[in-house]
Amino acid sequence: MTMGQKKQTKSGGLAGVVAGKSSISTVGTGHGLNYRGYDIYDLAKYATFEEVAFLLLKEKLPNAKELAEFKKELISFRGLSESLKEVLRLIPKDSHPMDVMRTGVSFLGNISPDDKLVDERLLGILPSILAYWHNFHVHGKEIDTKSSKEDIASYLLEKLHAFSKPSPEVSLALSPLGTEAMNVSLILYAEHEFNASTFAARICASTNSDTYSCIVSGIGTLRGNLHGGANEAAYELISSFENSQDALKGIKEKLDSKAKIMGFGHRVYVDNDPRNVVIKGYSKRLSDALGDKKLYTISEVIEKEMWEEKKLFPNLDFYSASVYHFLGIPTAYFTPVFVVSRTSGWLAHVNEQRKDNKLIRPSSEYVGLDKQEYIALENRI
Ligand code: COA
Repeated sequence: MTMGQKKQTKSGGLAGVVAGKSSISTVGTGHGLNYRGYDIYDLAKYATFEEVAFLLLKEKLPNAKELAEFKKELISFRGLSESLKEVLRLIPKDSHPMDVMRTGVSFLGNISPDDKLVDERLLGILPSILAYWHNFHVHGKEIDTKSSKEDIASYLLEKLHAFSKPSPEVSLALSPLGTEAMNVSLILYAEHEFNASTFAARICASTNSDTYSCIVSGIGTLRGNLHGGANEAAYELISSFENSQDALKGIKEKLDSKAKIMGFGHRVYVDNDPRNVVIKGYSKRLSDALGDKKLYTISEVIEKEMWEEKKLFPNLDFYSASVYHFLGIPTAYFTPVFVVSRTSGWLAHVNEQRKDNKLIRPSSEYVGLDKQEYIALENRI
């Protein structure tokens, strides 16, 4: 164990348990956060999400030709079949978009092969699934999945805002800074070792199940607010406060009542999530670009208070909440955007699991009743 990594003292929730080997990322284990040996700070500064997805999936950074081919393949999978569109139209308007992603991928598994292009197909189609359902149910309009935008970050923003009313947030989302913020956010969210959803996807792969089922397992696991759902929950918290004083009072009350503050703390980090400094920087830049005087200030007040009171630090989800809000993304779509990104990590892990597979099937410690005599139905009280 090294600095920055949490000392694991309890076995609940598999804390501190090394559950397998992986060559995909290091998470603070003496090397900092790296994807296949590349520092996350370098990737966030210099790379595109597509380069990172290629790195995770193909185990090397692409050269220019490989990247162009990879992007071409992703783009070729943006289209939605009539049957998938019909399914998306049938999912009720008031559904949670995470359920839309789950059902979209699940249905896709019925109509698409689990072939050598399945990774590209999934990465390419996810933004279209989300944007199609959103625009159909919110604006009553169908998006055209064709676009001049070659990268996922700007395609996602363009299509989510295809019929949005003009606003400063929408203009920012469609500006170079907006695309840059989304690209970096997708890079930061792409991979994080044996987190709960990745582990769920690996468990599914370990049974020799198909790729679509693995990704559905990942989506269902990411949805909860102790994991990916924390970005949505963090926004709800931050936006519930009117001003700094209100936030200070509200956080104190929550801590007094032992409530969890969403977007803080982490299973593997002790005093800092290395991704926070990057996403916080974008939150500040977007807040300045919009002239926001409230959300970013309140976020910082909460951050300071959480450190002073509990020595807890913001994780990636906390400032992602304001970043996505500043880009005009509806709150319920924050975790689905995480899905668009983390699918690259899930797929890398699914492929790695399959290369050297062993069924993941741990044991439990039995704490139930002693052996019981069977009682006939008529004699039971
Ligand atoms: N707010 C308030 N208290 C928190 C907290 C938070 N966000 N995160 C941890 N704590 C406290 C717990 O209440 C617990 O206190 P106790 O020992 O007095 O009971 C202690 O810190 C340990 O927390 P625990 O939940 O047992 O640790 P964990 O390793 O299981 O938790 C998380 C990791 C991420 C689940 C946890 O920090 C959390 O629930 N955070 C909020 C949800 C979130 O942001 N999730 C996204 C993670 S990237």
